[in-house]
Amino acid sequence: MPIFFQHKIDENTRLGVWKIEETEEFFKGNVPQHRDVTHPHKRLQHLAGRFLLQYLFPDFPFELIQIADTRKPFLPDEQYHFSISHCGDYAATIVSRNSRVGIDIEIPTSKVETIMHKFLNREEKQQFYKSRSTTHDSRLTTLLWSAKESVFKWYGDGGVDFREHIHLLKQHEENETIECFFSKTNSDLTIHYRQFEHLVLAWVLN
Ligand SMILES: CC(C)(COP(=O)(O)OP(=O)(O)OC[C@H]1O[C@@H](n2cnc3c(N)ncnc32)[C@H](O)[C@@H]1OP(=O)(O)O)[C@@H](O)C(=O)NCCC(=O)NCCS
Repeated sequence: MPIFFQHKIDENTRLGVWKIEETEEFFKGNVPQHRDVTHPHKRLQHLAGRFLLQYLFPDFPFELIQIADTRKPFLPDEQYHFSISHCGDYAATIVSRNSRVGIDIEIPTSKVETIMHKFLNREEKQQFYKSRSTTHDSRLTTLLWSAKESVFKWYGDGGVDFREHIHLLKQHEENETIECFFSKTNSDLTIHYRQFEHLVLAWVLN
C-alpha cells in the first residue's frame, strides 16, 4: 500500500499521493478505466489516480464519472468534487464533499525554465525572483507552474491564459501557501503546496 503522502484537510476533504509500484493488473481488478490510454505507463498513472478516489472515500461512485468537453472528469450530481494529477511514478488525488478542488504534481526539471515566459507575467517575475540567480531555480519555477496548473484544474472550464488570468501574489513559506487572484471568476484563492525531495505538489479548494 504505497501511499506516499496523505492529508485529511478537514471533515469533508482528503488528499493522497500514491507511489506507483503496482502492475496494471492490480489496478484493473479494482478500478474502471475511463478513457482509452494507449501508452502503458500513462494507463498505469490513469488507473492509479482513479484508484485513489476510493482509497480516500470508499463510497466514491466510480461508475458515475463523466468527462466534460474540456476533459475534466466530474460527477453529475456533485456528490464529490475531485481532481487528479500524475507525474512519473506518482499519482495525486484530492476529493471533497463540499468544495471545488484542483491538484497538480510535478517532478522539478530545468525544462520548465524554458517556458516560464509563457506562464509567468512581469509582476510575478519581480515578486518571486528577487535576484538574478533565482531565475534559474527550477524547483521554484516548477512550484509556480504547478500552482497555476492546480488553479486551472480547480476552474475546470478551460480557456485560461496563465499569464493574464492567474496572478500569483505572494508566497508564505511558513505555512506553505501562495496567495493568488484568479481574474476569470474574481476569486482570491489560497494555493497550498508541499515540496518533497523529487516532487512538488499544489492544491486549491474553495
Ligand atoms: C489538462 C491539463 C491540466 C493536464 O495536465 P497534465 O500535467 O498533462 O497532466 P496531469 O496528470 O497533471 O492531469 C491529468 C488529469 O487532469 C484531469 N483533467 C484533464 N483535463 C482537465 C480540465 N480541463 N480541468 C480539470 N482537470 C482536468 C484528468 O483527471 C486527467 O487525468 P485522467 O485523464 O487520468 O483522469 C493540462 O494538459 C493543460 O491543458 N494545462 C493547461 C495548459 C495551458 O493552458 N498552458 C498555458 C500556459 S503555457
